[in-house]
Amino acid sequence: MADVNDVDTLIDSFDVEPGYLDWARFGPLSPSVRAEMSADAELLGTGRRAGIDLVGARAAEARTLVAKLLDVPGDEIVLQPSTTHGLLHAMFGLEGTVVVPAQDFPAVRLSAARAAAARGLLAVREIDPPEGIVTTDAIVDALDDDVTAVALSLVDYRTGALVDLPAIREAIGDRLLIVDAIQAFGVVDVDWRAADVITGNGYKWLRSGRGTGFARFSPAARDRIEAVLSGISGMLGDAGTLGVPGVLPGAAAYSVAPSDPLAASRLAAALRDIDDVGVAPIAAAVRARAQEVMHLADRYEVPVMTPREAHAGIVTLLPAAADASALAAALANHGVTVTARGASIRVSAHVGTGADSLLLLGDALADAASRRVSAVDFGGDPGGEISAAEIITIEVIDVPPAPETRPEGDAWAEPATGAVPEAEIEAEIEAVPDDALDAEAAVDDAVDAADDEIVIATIDDAAPDNDGRTEN
Ligand SMILES: Cc1ncc(COP(=O)(O)O)c(C=O)c1O
Repeated sequence: MADVNDVDTLIDSFDVEPGYLDWARFGPLSPSVRAEMSADAELLGTGRRAGIDLVGARAAEARTLVAKLLDVPGDEIVLQPSTTHGLLHAMFGLEGTVVVPAQDFPAVRLSAARAAAARGLLAVREIDPPEGIVTTDAIVDALDDDVTAVALSLVDYRTGALVDLPAIREAIGDRLLIVDAIQAFGVVDVDWRAADVITGNGYKWLRSGRGTGFARFSPAARDRIEAVLSGISGMLGDAGTLGVPGVLPGAAAYSVAPSDPLAASRLAAALRDIDDVGVAPIAAAVRARAQEVMHLADRYEVPVMTPREAHAGIVTLLPAAADASALAAALANHGVTVTARGASIRVSAHVGTGADSLLLLGDALADAASRRVSAVDFGGDPGGEISAAEIITIEVIDVPPAPETRPEGDAWAEPATGAVPEAEIEAEIEAVPDDALDAEAAVDDAVDAADDEIVIATIDDAAPDNDGRTEN
């Protein structure tokens, strides 16, 4: 059982630049991964059999560690170049109908669709619940006797939503459950045995770089998923075996070609670090970091899409369409690395995300809030055209305090006080135009009247879309 010092040791190993909040996209390599990789590369450079064998043994070590962290037998694990490779093995061998979320990362549904088209033995049924957040009910609604499997991400890459794995397991009966674990493995504490196929990669949350994929195939999965993509590393016999040999027992059958020992050594190094601490305290700390991000978003009134009670490290912000570009610009200006996709901004925090990064995030959110038009109120009849006699009221939020007036250190990461609504000023101007298009010029005038404060506003004559969000 890990104690708090173990978590601290792990936290200390995060040596990324402050402001890095993009772990869901790429996890900068940990020091132990970098060291192991260099040392093993040196060994492979000597040409000595002992060194080559030593590095070759990393594959078995990595498999053992994956099995340990998933709490399943070692023969159920096979290394893969990527998550998608594992999914392809699963989908190409599957028959019947597989239920997949329409808005999940493409790896799940594309693998299923390719397999369906190539073999003609699989049908793909997409579900598209509200906001793309998969619920157990949405899955149950899609079930019928044709459904042989359900495939989905444990943590959704876009919304950050964490599905209820035990509930889904129970709801789907003995159908296969295929899980894309890349946004969850190592940072979510769940009973993985509920899933028959689990596939992931270490280049995000494990900090082990690309090529560090793995897959679990349970006995039920192996019974029902033919190893149609099995290659030379999944076959019985050796290079001298003639004809078409059968496949290896266990998950090893689902392998195309021998894995990269340097990738295995990176994966093993990363998993050792996680195993030293235990997943439960890491998962708790990651959730806590994500909640700090949500807290900052709430403070600056940026809507959060990620479910508050079901998430891991991803927090997706959904600013109003008019504010999105200003927020993205503020994040960039403050040195905060996130993924901006259309109108949404994905912030992903890891256990080692420190107060310095949250400070920068808070500054950026405060900055963007200070540039927000909080209300543009056209006087007169709701929905009516602006006429010369009408008044436009624009509330302009005050700018945040200058950096030198901010409290030092953590105090600023905690509720930052800049750009608070009580500092709002209100500028009232006459709306001169007969033509509604001139309202934009009126906004500019209001900005001038507001004593050089900056407003980024879009006046859109069209009817508001769903909650002011822009779909893409
Ligand atoms: C949910 C999900 N699945 C799969 C992938 C792709 O993983 P890989 O490159 O290991 O196939 C990503 C990458 O962002 C992802 O977010």
